[in-house]
Amino acid sequence: MSSHTESSNFVEFEQHVAKLFHKGGWTVETPKANQPGYDLAIRKGDLVAAVQVKWLRANVSTPMIQRFESFLESKEGQRFNYGFFVTTKGYAGPARALMRAWGEDTKIHCGVALEHKFDWIDPDKITDGKDEQDSQGSTGIEKPIYFGVFTCKGGVGKTTVSAHLAGAFALQGFNVALVDLDPEQNLQKLVGDGVFVPNPKGIGTNIQVFDGQDWHEDAARDCQIVICDCSPALERNPKELIEKLDYCIIPTTLNPLGINKHGKVIQSTVEEIRKINTIAHLFVLVNNFKQPGANHLRVLKRAFFEAYKEIKKTDDKFHCIDPEEVCIRASDQLYYWGIHLLENPDSPLSELAFKLIGGKCHPREDFINLSDYIENKAALGSLRNASS
Ligand SMILES: Nc1ncnc2c1ncn2[C@@H]1O[C@H](COP(=O)(O)OP(=O)(O)O)[C@@H](O)[C@H]1O
Ligand SMILES: [Mg+2]
Repeated sequence: MSSHTESSNFVEFEQHVAKLFHKGGWTVETPKANQPGYDLAIRKGDLVAAVQVKWLRANVSTPMIQRFESFLESKEGQRFNYGFFVTTKGYAGPARALMRAWGEDTKIHCGVALEHKFDWIDPDKITDGKDEQDSQGSTGIEKPIYFGVFTCKGGVGKTTVSAHLAGAFALQGFNVALVDLDPEQNLQKLVGDGVFVPNPKGIGTNIQVFDGQDWHEDAARDCQIVICDCSPALERNPKELIEKLDYCIIPTTLNPLGINKHGKVIQSTVEEIRKINTIAHLFVLVNNFKQPGANHLRVLKRAFFEAYKEIKKTDDKFHCIDPEEVCIRASDQLYYWGIHLLENPDSPLSELAFKLIGGKCHPREDFINLSDYIENKAALGSLRNASS
């Protein structure tokens, strides 16, 4: 099956899809801008269908389809007799497995738009293994907000923070694209091609994971937030992405003997970023925090702020987050989340360390705090409006 490669961007592709439906006897309506859940509504006689258009350079992943499925089950989505999910390239293996589980009676039909026709996937003919075709939609948000998680040092929690910050935003109703820029691909090994975050009241949100090489802004037009898990060697990250960052989270640890050393690491981290990007707000975040008791905490905090005093003087967009206000605590759940990579490097976990245990979850609380902090500090009011 050949893919539709002519459309170089989302808008062109959406027009092409509309044309193909029109040719098939459907009347095409474009919903109002920012309509969440689908891109086009189409009618034929008494039938009405929602169409999700997904322009991608890579195959469609499961959470992208799950979100559409969840929309069709929502109150708003129930007025549609069918859902058509149309993409440029194809569907990844897990997405095809999902379609096969739906069987023939499904309301959703997934396909690829070829030059002159659609190629719909027959759930009964799906075979294992081979990735095929793809699709999903946009809400018309003009430009997503870009976050980078970067320290020029390994093992400080870049991947852990990227994934769970994405989770915190998803819990709050944002669709998030996670871009894995580290050649080690730990993020992809842990969460695969994404996570769907269901919402009993709404249509749910998804975290879509992209390899840096497959990334293109048009591939995640339904995402309000893009988070890059950066390579610790700055020059190995695509310059055009680092230039785009609106915010950069710099994870560090707060150990008595490490503070001065980490101060230097943060200093060079900031210098590296500033060679490429002068607009981003930079936030130093304490990860893996162990509460030391009030007296010791006072001493540690003094040393912490002291280590970054010089940078603050010369950079007014550099912020150290007070660990008493927001930090990521050392947590068994986060630790074992990472262990999964060693135990099962070839089968992603596809979930986050957000499980409630006895009604509580430290990582969940900490990362929601972090996302709130960033929203308030950075006045991301526009984010809130975009999620609706
Ligand atoms: N807050 C935390 N509590 C417990 N373990 C953590 C925490 N943050 C990170 N880890 C663990 O530390 C290790 C390094 O984290 P990782 O996110 O892979 O760092 P990086 O991406 O910077 O190399 C992983 O094994 C991870 O599970
Ligand atoms: Mg990493």
